[in-house]
Amino acid sequence: MSELVSKEVHLVARPEGLPTVDDFKIVETRVELKPDDILVKNIYMSVDPAMRPALSNSQTKLNEVMAASAIGKVLESNEADIPVGSYVFHRFGFREYVALPKKDLEVITAENESITTHLHVLGITGFTAWGGLLITGELKENENVFVSAAAGAVGSIAGQIAKIKNCRVAGSCGSDEKVDHLLNDLGFDYAFNYKTASISKALHIGLPEGIDVYFENVGGKHLDAACGQMRPLGRIPVCGMISAYNNKGARSEGVTTLSNMIYNRVTMKGFVVYEFFERKAEFLSDMRGWLADGKIKYQETIKEGIESAPSALIGLFRGENTGKMLVQLAEE
Ligand SMILES: NC(=O)c1ccc[n+]([C@@H]2O[C@H](COP(=O)([O-])OP(=O)(O)OC[C@H]3O[C@@H](n4cnc5c(N)ncnc54)[C@H](OP(=O)(O)O)[C@@H]3O)[C@@H](O)[C@H]2O)c1
Repeated sequence: MSELVSKEVHLVARPEGLPTVDDFKIVETRVELKPDDILVKNIYMSVDPAMRPALSNSQTKLNEVMAASAIGKVLESNEADIPVGSYVFHRFGFREYVALPKKDLEVITAENESITTHLHVLGITGFTAWGGLLITGELKENENVFVSAAAGAVGSIAGQIAKIKNCRVAGSCGSDEKVDHLLNDLGFDYAFNYKTASISKALHIGLPEGIDVYFENVGGKHLDAACGQMRPLGRIPVCGMISAYNNKGARSEGVTTLSNMIYNRVTMKGFVVYEFFERKAEFLSDMRGWLADGKIKYQETIKEGIESAPSALIGLFRGENTGKMLVQLAEE
């Protein structure tokens, strides 16, 4: 195994605007195993919108392998609690094989579920939806909820959690097929295509009494429209601003409706999923229960092979995914 060659993705040019595949390069390297390392063959990796701003600053180094959440299978190990054949989660995706010390690996204990779910509904994006809505957003039963990027990994789960809490839920997305998916597969009360509809008019129709919680994934025009329609004591958990991520410094379009925060005493609060980690067991118990009861459904968009990883990342900004965008690097 010492001569094992792995293909990996390097960033070779800092993109301006939407990245192109030419900003990335597939490079072959030899995998070096230190004495206590565990050798992992990566099976699936995640691409995430937050990777985009990091391509434009020093967080992602040029001409080095990029980082991503991934799930792999252990090929060589001397650790009794990480045996050969077990599945592990780690943050060293964008490569086919990786040799890592035990401390960088988390064994996945799958309970009748696909291992891919640990990269979305039972992983970071599901946890983000759960914590953002219930903790940061302080969601209450029977409220009026708006979710943007609602057909994506975080948004689709946030909207369904709000339905479980008996809320009226409206979602925005970028195609008529996704509108159908939200209404007919995921049980949203109202959905619209923000590329063809006025966001503000659609929200008046979908949530005529106004919005108690706006789960913010997009920023810009979405925030402008939603902020103006927030109800008294409304909350805006700010999860992401994907409409801004291709702009220099991730600067969003201007928002003109902030005065409504005063009139209606609205709270807008940013969050990152890591702040919820002490409540992970509670999240997993809720989510596994909802999955078992059929109350949460999920979809995956899977691209094949390490060569497709750059286009999968770019595809997030073209709306090519419904549910979670993953890259499959090897057979399970
Ligand atoms: N705070 C945290 O800890 C945390 C953790 C994870 C994710 N996030 C954030 O959550 C948001 C969703 O992430 P995700 O992983 O679930 O991605 P995702 O929603 O699965 O994929 C991104 C989606 O965003 C939509 N989109 C792309 N460009 C857009 C634009 N200019 N305007 C409106 N919509 C656009 C596309 O769908 P359409 O076809 O609908 O346009 C695309 O499918 C992102 O903002 C991300 O940064 C935050």
